[in-house]
Amino acid sequence: MPSHLPGSQPGSVVKTRAGRRGMCPVARCEGWEVLVKLTVNGADVEVDDRFAKSPLLWVLRDVLGMHGTKYGCGIGYCAACTVLIDGRNTKSCQTPAGRAAGKAITTVEGASGPVIDAVRDAWHRGNVVQCGYCQGGQTLAAAALLEADRSPDDATVDRWMNGNLCRCGTYPRIRHAIREAADTLTAGRDPQPLTAVPDLEMQPLTPEELADPVHPYVRIGQDGTVVAYSNQIEMGQGAHTGLATIVAEELDADFASVRVVNAANGARPGGDVYGTPAGGGLIQLTGASTSTKGFWDRYRLAAAQARARLAAAAAEAWQVPAEEVEISSGVLLHASGKRAGFGEFAVRAGQLPVPDGVRPKDPGQYKLIGREGRLRVDAPGKILGTTQFTIDVTLPQMLTAVVLHPPKFGARAAAVDDSAALAEPGVTAVVPIEEGVAVIGQTFDDAQRGLRALRVDWDEQHAEQRSSEELLAEHRRLVESGEQAMVAREDGDVAAALARAAHAVDAIYELPYLAHAPMEPNNAACRMGDDGILEVWAGTEGPEYTRMAASAAAGIDKDRVRVHVPYAGGSFGLHSSAGHDPTSEAAQVARALDWKHPVKLQSLREEELKSGRYRAMAVHRVRAGADADGRLTAFWQQIAAQPTSPNLPFVADVLFTGGVDYMTASGAVDPPYALPNFKLETTNVQTGVPIMVWRSVGNSHTEFARESAIDELAIAAGRDPVDLRRELLAGNPRTLRALELAADRGGWGSPLPVGRARGIASSSFLSHSAQVTEISLDDRNRVHLERITFALDCGIIVNPDLVRAQVEGGLIYALGAAAWGEVVLADGGQIITQNFDRYPVMRMQSVPEIDVVLIDSGEPPTGVGEVSVPTAAPALTNAIFALTGTRIRRLPITKTIKIY
Ligand code: FES
Ligand code: FES
Repeated sequence: MPSHLPGSQPGSVVKTRAGRRGMCPVARCEGWEVLVKLTVNGADVEVDDRFAKSPLLWVLRDVLGMHGTKYGCGIGYCAACTVLIDGRNTKSCQTPAGRAAGKAITTVEGASGPVIDAVRDAWHRGNVVQCGYCQGGQTLAAAALLEADRSPDDATVDRWMNGNLCRCGTYPRIRHAIREAADTLTAGRDPQPLTAVPDLEMQPLTPEELADPVHPYVRIGQDGTVVAYSNQIEMGQGAHTGLATIVAEELDADFASVRVVNAANGARPGGDVYGTPAGGGLIQLTGASTSTKGFWDRYRLAAAQARARLAAAAAEAWQVPAEEVEISSGVLLHASGKRAGFGEFAVRAGQLPVPDGVRPKDPGQYKLIGREGRLRVDAPGKILGTTQFTIDVTLPQMLTAVVLHPPKFGARAAAVDDSAALAEPGVTAVVPIEEGVAVIGQTFDDAQRGLRALRVDWDEQHAEQRSSEELLAEHRRLVESGEQAMVAREDGDVAAALARAAHAVDAIYELPYLAHAPMEPNNAACRMGDDGILEVWAGTEGPEYTRMAASAAAGIDKDRVRVHVPYAGGSFGLHSSAGHDPTSEAAQVARALDWKHPVKLQSLREEELKSGRYRAMAVHRVRAGADADGRLTAFWQQIAAQPTSPNLPFVADVLFTGGVDYMTASGAVDPPYALPNFKLETTNVQTGVPIMVWRSVGNSHTEFARESAIDELAIAAGRDPVDLRRELLAGNPRTLRALELAADRGGWGSPLPVGRARGIASSSFLSHSAQVTEISLDDRNRVHLERITFALDCGIIVNPDLVRAQVEGGLIYALGAAAWGEVVLADGGQIITQNFDRYPVMRMQSVPEIDVVLIDSGEPPTGVGEVSVPTAAPALTNAIFALTGTRIRRLPITKTIKIY
């Protein structure tokens, strides 16, 4: 490929399109005027010289429109932006476009050949993908490894892949898939290239469709395709695959013919047709690990009804009784030899009434539910980089906005000097908004350069001025004094029982603010149509909240807002926000520009972390007692934390009652154990720090305190921690079974080599679970996670492998938070945690072997996506105590002992 413009020679002058002087990006000879000429996926392309110093990432995405390469941090800490440059995996956010001139750039869209095909095939068959946002970068990095080494050992894989972050915790499957791909290549097998179908988008439903029992949920196209409109958004948890399985099962459809789309309809009088369990049935809200629960009754029935209509339509056409029409794998059959695909009767079936008495199948009839072998329906597009996330939304005439948020929560812009920002090429406007100042540019890079040139004086009069240490001290003071404490539950006489106890524990447990940090930073886009309808794109967990935020920011009625929900590149609760989020910011900016342009509000990672909505800081005090025989006789837990549910309209009506936030108290108010004298008190702490639900909500801290205290009491009373839990779980057979299985499979009680130990914790959060964590200590006094055994009873399992994947991901997410997670406010309240350099998360090298034991159950399905989070920290800290004698009562653990 030529390094310079065609026909140019060193020393010559070449005109640029813009007529500006530039620097040759390759030869670096001042005095040249050039276009930057790149070779991307084998094609020569030219971009304006003003992009020579721009990160290649943004040139690919915003100038060339190639969205498979993703932004995760912009500072070289995540590798979501991985491309191959001359075959080497390279972080494109750290590579000026000009430096890539003259080299072969390969992006996820253009990668081809036997190695990447083997990688993609292994990724797909291994159900590696969750949210998928990181996976383009992961697969390119893996392919580069296998190009260099056809049989890398695990240590080599870990080292090579350690730079590629995955917030969904797909690392164990990546390790496995690389091994599989290596085997394929060394055996000379030839995998077929993966293909993906384009994403579908939901069209608004007509009133007639809304009134139909089936149409809002399941549609059958004339081509035989089955489309399911998912009331749970897909953010990595596998909801779409679960729904496809349920619908295919009840319809007796071919699983491969089922497509799933994120639905978004909006609340109507009488409730939203997509109302979900997390939204109390009133609004559509994905959360609380209720996706399968949310599908279970409604979608099984809707699919069974669709099946009955198809059979009725075929019976009508074939002049036979409907009962004689059989359906199997998407084909309608009659003993007379007649047969047809679904598409043939799709239109007529949709016109027929639903026959009376249609019921979903009995579990004994299942052919798909509960069986191994289902591959994720959303995986191919995510592996191939064709899936559209919010960050990828592109609209004609669209501008990109980034927001500089205040350095302290509650500060406001007092004076803005935008002259330098506006002088940056490509910057079109600077707009103060409610919580910061937005810089608008033609591309993200333009806007980001403008943001860096912006000068703002902040009015900090009403800002939160306390450091995180001061806030923690205030939480501690409140919990110790019992000031403002509300009794959430009281059984027996805990004070008297404690006074009589032969063994006692009185301990304070402290947990910091945590960021969600999904791999896709929080984004939104909006466009005002000529018809006065504001369209919004956001990977939101709560489309109704998004509608509310957009209508408030735009100053229009909610009914004039239409929400599109693209795939979310993770969320973990962050996208539950009902305000203070990019949807509101995008609408504020577009409104300030008189709605002349669609606007994409794209969060910089550091601005997302700076804008709060953290998991609340929490301090617990637990006093527990046991009698002389070591039987637990008293348990008194006090919590001081900022309440979470008031941030969630509708939900708060149910979960914030009598001054108690039951979201905060979750896991403490409903412990899995029979605790004879029990008291739970909560104190609502007021701070200026915005908080939001975080994966497993209150249980993420309440169970750390409870499971640590139970361990402490067992040891104080000379009891084995499993024995004590077994006794307390006598009335909770499902959790007891999980405990027994985890202990058995995890080797509890069996001898370990010197320098190793195990810890245990159990939980009834959403399902029934227990885990054993085995650790070791190296000669530098660092804890290594060796092995986790996790036993789970989550009722009927729809897709076993996806359940295992969620458990693995939840453990890795939670272990990273327990080990290193902490958002820090410095003296004066300055937010200093802003990117992955200061918010370490788990990487490949730290991931233990994980054994997930699934328990057979005929009970209705319960939660999976969050169930492994609450016990991850206490099982680890209990193991650390067993190994070192050091009791960790404050997280993150690295404040006390290093984690490898
Ligand atoms: S390393 Fe490039 S976006 Fe994170
Ligand atoms: S699959 Fe890796 S971040 Fe979601």
